[in-house]
Amino acid sequence: MVMIWENLTVTIGADKKKKLLDGVTGFAQPGRIMAVMGPSGCGKTTLLTSLAGTHAANVAEAGNIQIKGKRRNLYSKEVSFVGQEELFLGTLTVKETLTYSANMRLPSKMTKQEIDKVVEDTIIEMGLEDCANSKIGNWHLRGISNGEKKRLSIGLEILTQPFVLLLDEPTSGLDSASAFYVIQALSNIALKGKIVICSIHQPGCETFNIFDDLLLLSSGETVYFGEANMALKFFADAGFPCPIKRNPSDHFLMSINLDFDFINEALARCHVLIRVSQETTILMSSVADLPCGRRSSATDPNDGPVLWY
Ligand SMILES: Nc1ncnc2c1ncn2[C@@H]1O[C@H](COP(=O)(O)OP(=O)(O)OP(=O)(O)O)[C@@H](O)[C@H]1O
Ligand SMILES: [Mg+2]
Repeated sequence: MVMIWENLTVTIGADKKKKLLDGVTGFAQPGRIMAVMGPSGCGKTTLLTSLAGTHAANVAEAGNIQIKGKRRNLYSKEVSFVGQEELFLGTLTVKETLTYSANMRLPSKMTKQEIDKVVEDTIIEMGLEDCANSKIGNWHLRGISNGEKKRLSIGLEILTQPFVLLLDEPTSGLDSASAFYVIQALSNIALKGKIVICSIHQPGCETFNIFDDLLLLSSGETVYFGEANMALKFFADAGFPCPIKRNPSDHFLMSINLDFDFINEALARCHVLIRVSQETTILMSSVADLPCGRRSSATDPNDGPVLWY
């Protein structure tokens, strides 16, 4: 009853040389919620769209994706994908939006009472009771909040009770309390025997603790795949213990983000530079002799690496 992705490779370009995902393998189980995390551009959206079968036309996908032991069928209603952008008709209310969608997507043999019941249950499940009759709003009509919009877009996808729910950053733009509420609602959906996988940027501690599983990506490759609460031990064993008072999810990103390493290195050099200049009171122009110091315009610009602080 699991979802498996095996050796998933996504490439771009005529020669298929640029790899957006490089041999990513993993699985997701019903009743559990998985976080996909990693630095910007590491391939989170690419992975989710590949699993959903909605990747862009200019990318090529290789690998094996199976749901319940069968190859994923692109036209089945088993998988739903909630993207980052919300597209709503701003003049409709929350309830009207859900009702229209339910009428379009639920089986035509369902009665009006049954469809209304599904809509009511969805409103309760996503905590949208207070704004059910409020207009969604648009650029000239003030409507529901961003958190409510996020929950509405999830509600639209769970109307059809998909077995796999994939979400791309359902908490982006939300404060930590609203983000916690959204992930808690997703965890409750998972507990009903569904697979929930979502990408997320920097969840707070409480929000991170809701996740059962964690997939950490870096440059399209898996850095960690397993239970979320074992990741701290994994990083500590690998020589990256999480400092006390640091949010674990921040620590994972800092440890795997190459850009961050570069910044750290640059900052370390910067400190050396300041210390040298304090101790010897040399002028900035003469610091040009240091490997990465700021150079005076008189020095040869082609002479070694330059860092501007
Ligand atoms: N259709 C595409 N055409 C060209 N490049 C693409 C395409 N899709 C993704 N990429 C590139 O692949 C890399 C991964 O993109 P992706 O959107 O999956 O990253 P991400 O982890 O979701 O980033 P973010 O956290 O910023 O949303 C990026 O460098 C992106 O520019
Ligand atoms: Mg993304």
